[in-house]
Amino acid sequence: MNKEILELISNKYDFKNKSAEEIIQLGINDITTAVKELGNEPSDFFSKDKCNSYLETDEIGREMYLFKSVKSTNTVAKFLSRNVSNGTVILSETQTRGRGRKGTEYQSPKGGIWLSIILKPDVTPSKAPLLTLATAVAVTRTLDHFNIHAEIKWPNDILIHDKKVCGILTESIARFNNLESVIIGVGINSEIDINEFPEEIRDCSIALSDVVDGDINPEKGTAYFFKEFEFIYNKFLEGDIGFIFDEWRKYNHTIGKFVEIQQPLGKVINGYAVGIDQEGALVIEKADHTLVKVVSGRCRLLD
Ligand code: BTN
Repeated sequence: MNKEILELISNKYDFKNKSAEEIIQLGINDITTAVKELGNEPSDFFSKDKCNSYLETDEIGREMYLFKSVKSTNTVAKFLSRNVSNGTVILSETQTRGRGRKGTEYQSPKGGIWLSIILKPDVTPSKAPLLTLATAVAVTRTLDHFNIHAEIKWPNDILIHDKKVCGILTESIARFNNLESVIIGVGINSEIDINEFPEEIRDCSIALSDVVDGDINPEKGTAYFFKEFEFIYNKFLEGDIGFIFDEWRKYNHTIGKFVEIQQPLGKVINGYAVGIDQEGALVIEKADHTLVKVVSGRCRLLD
């Protein structure tokens, strides 16, 4: 049992006044139910009913759990993944330890959209990273729909005016070569005062409220994102990878630029980004004209 999940429901079950034996006797199903019940309590921040009224999807967002505060929606999603339907969404008003890529902490104050989508695609684990690119496309297409021009910085940052507005963290649950679930975590700085972010990320972050005139309707925006996501997810399932790549290139902010990639273990690659391959790896031409493929890393644009 995950410690974060126990902490989440500890107040509900009053764990402090229970013996370890009594807690064990609650059983895994009760804990799953308790987590789901917590995700069904009313919220003044986001209305599930309102979101539902805009929803045009078959599966994505049809089952939704909305929390006031969790450490990370991805963790809750992982915990519930076996006991929910494909396309279930976990959303939280705030995250106390939102997770970014490479083990970083992701700032998730109230006013942002912090959500995870649970998917159960019948594909091999090696295909899962493509879902990150697909999600980035779904986010930019959604913003486009609301007349907000955004771009994708490889592999998964969504930028407005060169500043990050959204991050994506894809995590897979696989047993041997069997992909059980994929968790798509999406964090959008919707109505946030970026001045409250830590200094080191303040200058490179932006919120939708910085670029939108008038009120933001988070339920409408989220429901539309689910529609775009389902559309692109179906392309993924149909194997129409070409469509995803074409769309990704359309919004890309990386190809055709000089980049520096910091890889795990401190390796740094500099060069000109010439494209992405069919697995989503970035292809870089180095100064000596050799081509290298980079599967992951932190990307800094040099021009
Ligand atoms: C990144 O840009 O480093 C990825 C950030 C992903 C953040 C989202 S917010 C919802 C979901 N839950 C998390 O803990 N992380 C993702």
